[in-house]
Amino acid sequence: MTSNTQSVQDFLQLAWQAQAAGQFDQAIEIYQKTLDLQQTAPAWLGLGQCHLERKDSQAALAAFRQALALMPQSGAIRHMVDMLEGARVPDRAPDDYVVWVFDGHAENFEAHLAALNYRGPQMVAGLIEGSWDRDGSRAILDLGCGTGLNAPIFRPYAQRLDGVDLAPRMLQQAARRGLYDHLYKAEAHTFLRRPPCRYDAVIATDVFIYIGQLEEIFSFSDQYLNKGGELLFTIELATGEQPVELRSSGRFRQTDAYIRALAGRTGFEVVATHDEALRIENGIPEAGRAYRLVRL
Ligand SMILES: C[S@@+](CC[C@H](N)C(=O)[O-])C[C@H]1O[C@@H](n2cnc3c(N)ncnc32)[C@H](O)[C@@H]1O
Repeated sequence: MTSNTQSVQDFLQLAWQAQAAGQFDQAIEIYQKTLDLQQTAPAWLGLGQCHLERKDSQAALAAFRQALALMPQSGAIRHMVDMLEGARVPDRAPDDYVVWVFDGHAENFEAHLAALNYRGPQMVAGLIEGSWDRDGSRAILDLGCGTGLNAPIFRPYAQRLDGVDLAPRMLQQAARRGLYDHLYKAEAHTFLRRPPCRYDAVIATDVFIYIGQLEEIFSFSDQYLNKGGELLFTIELATGEQPVELRSSGRFRQTDAYIRALAGRTGFEVVATHDEALRIENGIPEAGRAYRLVRL
């Protein structure tokens, strides 16, 4: 290793430490020094993240574009550019982006969500309360199960409770609960095309914020859902013209009209919905809607 490479690595380490400690101005200064020595994708990426933290989206976009030029194969960086440009709406967040976001926060995910008053699991639970028997008879899949917040709620209804997620460290946390029969590391579409069994219900709380276009998942439901089976999920509710939006947070929103039209086209009936703030971010409630769909 040359001494130049060594100092680039040392600077990057210092910048990451400052960024992790929330000292974004200091981190930006160090990333810039690193970039004077050598143009690297990690330095541009870190610089972009710090600008995003400081709500400077123009500077962030410029930095992410530089990172993408150096690492054009990175789906994660492409997603950051897409979300800030707002010009192209991809179908879903790339796998490497999802793993990068969630594996980085798996250990403090639940504390973070509790602080935001996250309500996804309770919102879908409210839709089946009183209508499902707690007789442990159902085969249930928790799609994008994360750390397993749905497991304590749905275990009493389940003869089999499976979870699937892309992020290995989220799955490790889910496994610690000891409430799932099987946990699978897989992408949602890939898994649903070849599930180990058919399910009576699939739950997806706060997952369709990373899968914007839901056509595929809805349209091949005969692969994974029994007839009369249910799809229970939450969305961040869009109210604009676009059926599916990609936001600067990197998350998607869908309109109610989009969900209902898609459900109608793909053999589902919308039997119940529930509106509530999904979480409260920076003091602002995030309008959410939970759906209960039955496969006809
Ligand atoms: C915001 S978390 C929600 C976790 C859990 N459902 C809950 O309500 O607490 C979103 C989860 O979906 C997973 N995820 C996102 N996109 C996915 C995909 N295409 N396939 C599988 N898992 C995905 C992420 O890894 C993450 O664990």
